[in-house]
Amino acid sequence: MARDSIALYVHFPFCLSICPYCDFDRQATGFDRIDVYLEAVNRELAQFRQVDQPVHSIFFGGGTPSLMSAAQLSQLLAAARETFDMQPDAEITVECNPGDADLAKLQAFRAAGATRLSFGVQSLDDAFLKLLGRRHSSAEARQAAAWAKQAGFDFNLDFMFGLPGQSLEHWQDTLDQALELHPDHLSCYLLTLDENVQMGRDVARGKLVLPQDDELAEMYTSTRHQLANAGFEQYEISNWARPRQASRHNLTYWRDGQWIGVGAGAASAYGGRRWKNTPVLERYISSVTASGVAHRVEDEVPDLRTRMLDTLSLGLRLREGVSLDEFRLRYGVDLATVFGETGPWLIETDFLECVDGRLKIAADHQLITNEILVRIEEAIDDYVRRETSASQIAAR
Ligand SMILES: C[S@@+](CC[C@H](N)C(=O)[O-])C[C@H]1O[C@@H](n2cnc3c(N)ncnc32)[C@H](O)[C@@H]1O
Ligand code: SF4
Repeated sequence: MARDSIALYVHFPFCLSICPYCDFDRQATGFDRIDVYLEAVNRELAQFRQVDQPVHSIFFGGGTPSLMSAAQLSQLLAAARETFDMQPDAEITVECNPGDADLAKLQAFRAAGATRLSFGVQSLDDAFLKLLGRRHSSAEARQAAAWAKQAGFDFNLDFMFGLPGQSLEHWQDTLDQALELHPDHLSCYLLTLDENVQMGRDVARGKLVLPQDDELAEMYTSTRHQLANAGFEQYEISNWARPRQASRHNLTYWRDGQWIGVGAGAASAYGGRRWKNTPVLERYISSVTASGVAHRVEDEVPDLRTRMLDTLSLGLRLREGVSLDEFRLRYGVDLATVFGETGPWLIETDFLECVDGRLKIAADHQLITNEILVRIEEAIDDYVRRETSASQIAAR
């Protein structure tokens, strides 16, 4: 991946129904607006004609982008190629719900230019799929994986673990079955429930019971061992890939690179700015139709604190960690200076390790990454306070 190439994200917010654990920008209404929506996305793309960096990846995410026809996908790809300088070997991923896949459709996606599929499988147990409100069966998920291979795709399977009532043995068995489908990449997410989603409310009311923290830790540790034994490399907290199959697109986010996101609710980080489009479908369509630019609900030039925190909170999710040299080059200060007294403490407590000039979260502590990041955020706040008062004193 060339250092200065960028990624493109295209959001497709429509889903046939809403899963009870899902908190993404999505909707199960307005299907008669899909054509108008895609026209607006095509139009929004055109404003980026001046961007001169090549694009190394496109990710069609959702929502459920596999509800698009191959013709619709092809049109979006044509618009992207017209707008950007696409690298010839660009990774082009489409997120798919297994129930939408049939061989002809996947072959047509491949012919349109997609190179990679990411299936939201979640579980291979029909009882859990029902509990999760999924529209597909485990047999359909298995069939979809086989068709993806047949159509010539690299593919990822998304799973969630720590489901209500799930045991360690059940999760281990799920992973064994997943490996039999020969994926190139596996994403294994710990089920995380916001209180504003149906399953979150059911857990809060005691209707559903999640596994205990020590059971979750065992499931996670077991995932690491099982997938390592099967030849997968863990490259991020929740992501494993066969050698050279890590997602170039997702690496762009975690390496704090630049990306442009189009569509309702899409976020971008480009040219030193961050912005997020309105997630409200009609507001998105009307703003793009009127001006070619989407209405933004957030738009900022992030300050030093935010940029440093992003570099660390994204980079420390990766097994490769954060390069001390790159940090110094980017911010003109050593990470040790930024961390102050917290740095040695984080290393002495074994939360972080420094290997070959890179700072990483120790493998056994990945599940508490968020807690570690809270300490890092405090250290950055202290550093910014120290710097601000030093420059105020110097200015007197
Ligand atoms: C953008 S989402 C949705 C992709 C696609 N619409 C689907 O449902 O298959 C990508 C992945 O995030 C994971 N995910 C979604 N909600 C989650 C939650 N509450 N906790 C953990 N993982 C979640 C699921 O594994 C899902 O496949
Ligand atoms: S299909 Fe995916 S995006 Fe849509 S509601 Fe379910 S989990 Fe969320």
